[in-house]
Amino acid sequence: LSVPQIHRLLAHSLYCKQISKPWLEPQTHKLTKKTQLRMPSQSLFNKTVALLFSKRSTRTRLASQTSVSLLGGNGLFLGKDDIQLGVNETPRDTARVIGGMTEGIFARVGEHEEIEELAKYSPVPVINALSSLWHPTQILADLLTLHEHSHLFAQLDPKADTNPNYKTMQTSVKSRKREKVASLPELRPLTVSYVGDSANVLHDMLVTYPRLGHSLRVASPPKYRAPPEVWRRVEELGCDKRIWWGEDPKEAVKGADVVVTDTWISMGQEAEKAQRLQDFQGYQVTETLCREGGANPNWKFMHCLPRKQDEVDDEVFYGPRSLVFPEADNRKWTTMAVFDLFIGRWDISADSSKPFE
Ligand code: CP
Ligand code: NVA
Repeated sequence: LSVPQIHRLLAHSLYCKQISKPWLEPQTHKLTKKTQLRMPSQSLFNKTVALLFSKRSTRTRLASQTSVSLLGGNGLFLGKDDIQLGVNETPRDTARVIGGMTEGIFARVGEHEEIEELAKYSPVPVINALSSLWHPTQILADLLTLHEHSHLFAQLDPKADTNPNYKTMQTSVKSRKREKVASLPELRPLTVSYVGDSANVLHDMLVTYPRLGHSLRVASPPKYRAPPEVWRRVEELGCDKRIWWGEDPKEAVKGADVVVTDTWISMGQEAEKAQRLQDFQGYQVTETLCREGGANPNWKFMHCLPRKQDEVDDEVFYGPRSLVFPEADNRKWTTMAVFDLFIGRWDISADSSKPFE
């Protein structure tokens, strides 16, 4: 997605949240006649989305299944022991067959090539629900969370709006007022630090955050750096100019408005556990690390979950800096917007006078 499209998708996620929440939690929302009349578009009515998970999932599964329901569709969960894929059938044949009976495929796979193969042969849209290389829907939830909490960053650096993408966002927020979408709170360019393993979540941060005007500071042990195919994409998009990458976690958190990490042992890497625990010593996110490293005193914390204490201690994870649970909730609304766009009927370019990249 281009930068304006990302902003529009986030605004649409917020709209999905705002119209679904009063309906889901009537006791906490005063239902006026107007809000009662609003409900999510039934753009998946009579449609089935195959939710193909060859790995475990809590958030992505919940987000997809519940949001398909809210859009009026049927989410068909297909776990790794439910279908022939990977045992008796190839991704190519599976894509053709599932795509023949459903309107979209949301797939969590092992190797990234598997999702490429599904996308190549599927007659319906295929959306990546996590692969060895990328986790795109996670980053949308992270961004929505940051926008929703933009007031926490607002006063920290008032002169930081020198980035052209920041202006693009302000313009697109204004033009959106005419449309039936929520207004996305403005977010100033941030310094986002990532301490830990270079895995799928970080890879999507690398190709997204710099385009939105945010700077990334990453620390990982040398042998855990982004693979060449990810780095190629980073350079193609010109994101490398806003990325600092080193080995020292303290240097990485210098000036951080947000600190992010992920598990040191991603799904499928269990056999490397002992080695990884040893290699990542010193990379745990703690108050001390961020204080000594010179993070912004008001820094916030994000993590895609599931989380282990190895990579972040309880004080940070359950403390007031942590945005992890709003971030997890936002998986639902961003996934809903993604389905509405790629499988439903939401037109991301409607009412826009601006051409997209
Ligand atoms: N963040 C995330 O993708 O969580 P799950 O693996 O539980 O879906
Ligand atoms: N890097 C983690 C993310 C889990 C959401 C993994 O791939 O297991």
